[in-house]
Amino acid sequence: MAFTSPAMNVMMAAARKAARPLVRDFGELENLQISQKGPGDFVTHADKRTEQILIEELTKARPGYGFLGEEGGAIEGKDRTHRFIIDPIDGTSNFLHGIPQFAISIALEREGQLVAGMVYNPITDEMFTGEKGSGAFLNGKRLRVAARKEMGPALFATGLPFASRPGQARAMAETGAVLAVTSGIRRFGAASLDLAWTAAGRVDGYWERGIQIWDVAAGIVLVREAGGIVSDFAGRTDGLTGGEVVCANEHLHPQLLKLLKGVKAD
Ligand code: IPD
Repeated sequence: MAFTSPAMNVMMAAARKAARPLVRDFGELENLQISQKGPGDFVTHADKRTEQILIEELTKARPGYGFLGEEGGAIEGKDRTHRFIIDPIDGTSNFLHGIPQFAISIALEREGQLVAGMVYNPITDEMFTGEKGSGAFLNGKRLRVAARKEMGPALFATGLPFASRPGQARAMAETGAVLAVTSGIRRFGAASLDLAWTAAGRVDGYWERGIQIWDVAAGIVLVREAGGIVSDFAGRTDGLTGGEVVCANEHLHPQLLKLLKGVKAD
């Protein structure tokens, strides 16, 4: 049986409410108002509205909690011990291109620790949930990371810096190194789902540099609760603040980390 705390029920309800207009928008992409925030990084009217609905719903149920969001930045609450970390549409480029690989991502931080994570793909209606110490679930069904122990048969997801984002040469070099010794790489375009899919064992692991905490906070909880290891490139598993993530099961994580660390790039 899936464990869902009252806080998780609140997060799921907020995501489902925000998802309804988002699904409608996805069906009529040409009507969206699109503004350009920076090179390759589009923010849509839908993105802003989704964040607004999430903040309204979460505040109704948990007044006083703070927020850290992609659109609105940090909002301090009266309750300094709790904060929601939200990405209203992770996978914005996919959304804009009509590719059904994007998600609403909500994490709950308590006293600086990530304690709950929810990643919801409104198009496939896949709701990934995880709570510290209670496991990870997909639509209520228990998740476990893949069991492969060798790199050869393993499949990894990654994210690549696009447009003017730095680190392209390094990302290509790392991708080449992993491609050479595994069954392949996928670049799906939504970090929260890359982590959720690692938790679900669809891919064996995922890594990315130059990533924001709201892209990965919820997914980090999912992978950990599905039995995986999430770290930065130095192998630190505590105090992740975004920036970079490397995750896989306990057998593949050290191998992936070693391989990535050995990559030389300008
Ligand atoms: C992006 C996606 C993408 C990742 C980028 C993120 P956004 O988030 O997660 O997969 O490679 O680094 O910025 O901008 O669509 O919320």
